[in-house]
Amino acid sequence: MHMLHSVLPKPDVLIAGAGIIGLSLALELDARGAKVVVLERDTALAHASSRAAGMLAQNDPHNRPELGSLSALSIQLYPDFLARIKKLGDAEVPLHTTHALQALDDKRVTSLDPLSAEELRGHAPFLAPGDLQFGRLLEHSLDPRELCAALLLAVRASGVVLHEGTTFESVAEREAGGLCVKTSRGDISPGKMIHTQGPWAGAPVRPVKGQMLLVKLPPSLPLREVVRGAGIYIVPRTSGERAGCAVIGASVEHAGFDEQTNAATEASLRARAALLLPALGDAATAPTISTWAGLRPGTPDDLPLLGSLAAEHQFIAAGHYRNGILLAPATARVMADVVEGKSPELSLQAFAPARFS
Ligand code: GLY
Repeated sequence: MHMLHSVLPKPDVLIAGAGIIGLSLALELDARGAKVVVLERDTALAHASSRAAGMLAQNDPHNRPELGSLSALSIQLYPDFLARIKKLGDAEVPLHTTHALQALDDKRVTSLDPLSAEELRGHAPFLAPGDLQFGRLLEHSLDPRELCAALLLAVRASGVVLHEGTTFESVAEREAGGLCVKTSRGDISPGKMIHTQGPWAGAPVRPVKGQMLLVKLPPSLPLREVVRGAGIYIVPRTSGERAGCAVIGASVEHAGFDEQTNAATEASLRARAALLLPALGDAATAPTISTWAGLRPGTPDDLPLLGSLAAEHQFIAAGHYRNGILLAPATARVMADVVEGKSPELSLQAFAPARFS
């Protein structure tokens, strides 16, 4: 195993954390001509990034309104983001759904007209809405596992140097300028450093566990749109090896760095899903293919930390909570601007890293 300093001893930028935020930002900086090294203590994209449901849920009622312009920018950038990934790594990332049916029982949903009973039957005849009303949104989803596989191919084909199994230990300013970063595999001297370790970035970012399951949809439930109600979502996969399956999620648990699943939570997710789509209540009809948990990078106000840190030459992009997949392209764009000393195209005031200090 080579030591770090033998590869690219003085990169322009060192990024700690190879989740979707770190790697998207690495690709953006590489495209702008920077020499970039990414450190990952584990395996790239192994945690929240590949465990998410994949809704590009710009209109999720859980989202704080302050996320509006960053989400809108990301949706605008997504086609170019996927095109860059395809061009570099030659892997297509398909969209699985184009619309979401959003239950209107959540008081935070204000700008959505209810579908008539006839419209609802047209879109989802198998839905059992009871007294619930639904609105229909143009909102895409993708499979984060497909996105992560393609993103990794793109990174490997780019000029970015990725070191997996390499833990960031400490950083100090160098008298000669720039930084000295200590890692588990030697020192490296970047000009700048960006912290993108998600829940491992340290306070105020903290893990918020979400348990999920993948079920096989029965022939009676040919779901082609996301269905979302209070505290539950069902996201069908419509192509590839998981075609005909759907992700059901997700719990919201403050359980530290625990990534275990349990049968009680699986049963409660199924029960909630079955209130909307009754066929999902029966494990014989819609068998469980797999269960897993991801650790969302939460913050006290559910908004990310984006910007420079008090320490010279250091930056953070972390705490994307429920929306890392959605917000990766916009985060890459605005943070590359910040790192280059330019004003980003939208205000990052709500995401100021120092707002909790
Ligand atoms: N993005 C949905 C969730 O965090 O469960």
